[in-house]
Amino acid sequence: MEFNVKTSAPEKQRSACLIIAVSQTRKLSRSGELLDSASGGFLSGILRSGDMDGRPGQSLILHNVPGIQAERVLLIGAGKESEMNERAFIEVLNSVVSALENSAARDACSYLTDLSIKERDTGWKVRHSVLQVWHSRYQFERLKSDRPNQKKGLRKLTVNVPERRDLAKAELAVQQGVAISKGMDLARDLGNLPGNICTPAYLAQQARKLGKEHVKLKVEVLNEADMRELKMGSLLSVSAGSRQPAKLITLQYSGGKVKQKPVVLVGKGVTFDTGGISIKPGAAMDEMKFDMCGAASVIGTIDAVATMKLPINVVGIIPTTENMPDGLATKPGDIVTSMSGQTIEILNTDAEGRLILCDALTYAKKYNPRFVIDIATLTGACIIALGKVPSAVLGNDQALIDELIRSGKQIEDKLWELPLWEEYQDQLKSNFADMANIGGRDAGTITAACFLSRFTKKYKWAHLDIAGTAWKSGDEKGATGRPVPLLTQFILNQL
Ligand code: BES
Ligand code: MN
Ligand code: ZN
Repeated sequence: MEFNVKTSAPEKQRSACLIIAVSQTRKLSRSGELLDSASGGFLSGILRSGDMDGRPGQSLILHNVPGIQAERVLLIGAGKESEMNERAFIEVLNSVVSALENSAARDACSYLTDLSIKERDTGWKVRHSVLQVWHSRYQFERLKSDRPNQKKGLRKLTVNVPERRDLAKAELAVQQGVAISKGMDLARDLGNLPGNICTPAYLAQQARKLGKEHVKLKVEVLNEADMRELKMGSLLSVSAGSRQPAKLITLQYSGGKVKQKPVVLVGKGVTFDTGGISIKPGAAMDEMKFDMCGAASVIGTIDAVATMKLPINVVGIIPTTENMPDGLATKPGDIVTSMSGQTIEILNTDAEGRLILCDALTYAKKYNPRFVIDIATLTGACIIALGKVPSAVLGNDQALIDELIRSGKQIEDKLWELPLWEEYQDQLKSNFADMANIGGRDAGTITAACFLSRFTKKYKWAHLDIAGTAWKSGDEKGATGRPVPLLTQFILNQL
């Protein structure tokens, strides 16, 4: 899919399809008005006929509109002007994609930038046009032998920029939108691949491949012997029950000055989570192939950052393993020593994410981080608390948390903060070790973060629980690519 920007008069624009917003009630956008005059009132005539009044979700494709150069005009309902906001704009873009799904139009020119959204400039609208159109055209079909949908739909979208002086900003917005979309595609593909293909070794191989695509990206993979040497007893306790060897992948993107402290991203890479000996119930267990979506988001974000060649240093650290039951698997009650030296009583082998993250977080110290952000499908409790709208954020530095929340709002990939108060730490008490790996039923997302906080005292840290946002279930089952947009936006904000 190709995207570009242009400032053009709609009536003179050659295109297979012009995309024009209609607000409620029957109100053509600025470009719509221009088309209407050029066509001698053709569009207002259609509106008056009652087939289209501008409600959200409405769409109408018109052919042979007189007096203009384009083959078609797509009228798209945008709802009330007073209610136009970020979500509504994204819904409009989704309606455009579905309206054009079965059309023969292969290219289109969008005048949706006419819609005004409070506090959002043309750059925002351009970037989201790219992101949303790209996102809704995604399909994961590489494992199907029959791929009927391959060649359908749009191939090229031109986004109109009302003011010529905004063109440079809009071009940058396209570049960013494309880079973030590619990163999201990569994250979604890795997430959607099943556990028998996307193993720890596969993730390592994909990371290495990415390292070859970007000059400033160096990839290193540690194996279990290396981890043993580093005394990563907690990480290794999770892979003990698996035939697939664990890996610790680091991706080092050096776009900034040598001495600049890096932003470190740590992603949970459990390529399949059966629960281990504390085995999970069977229902929907297939979805535990998505338990490496934190890792995938780190890889996708680094891809986006490297594609944009941003002048910043970013390090990705990915502890990756399966969580399987086996004769050698860790048992409830087993006590292990983490790389930090702290001992952990593993009361539930299904709380494995924190066990691999804690050693990766200790390891992160060696990069002298500016911040460390870990991203993990860590707790089912997060879905109970917040549902599938925001990811949860917790951490030890309020400024970092606030900046992450702000970044999420900017790119519609939202976060909500949960409290990481001292009082919750008590729930991790163990009679036999420095801590237990679970804290009981109450506040499961918070106690998981409490556990991690014991390994992140030496730097500014935030934890993102993406259990509810990394993938969708049901008919639309599949990885979402979140929080690649949020993380990329956060990094852009650090420049
Ligand atoms: N990967 C799961 C968390 C999860 C479950 C994410 C369902 C999304 C959907 C994690 O490893 C896990 O099993 N967590 C346990 C922790 C519990 C044993 C303290 C959970 O949430 O049940
Ligand atoms: Mn688990
Ligand atoms: Zn898990």
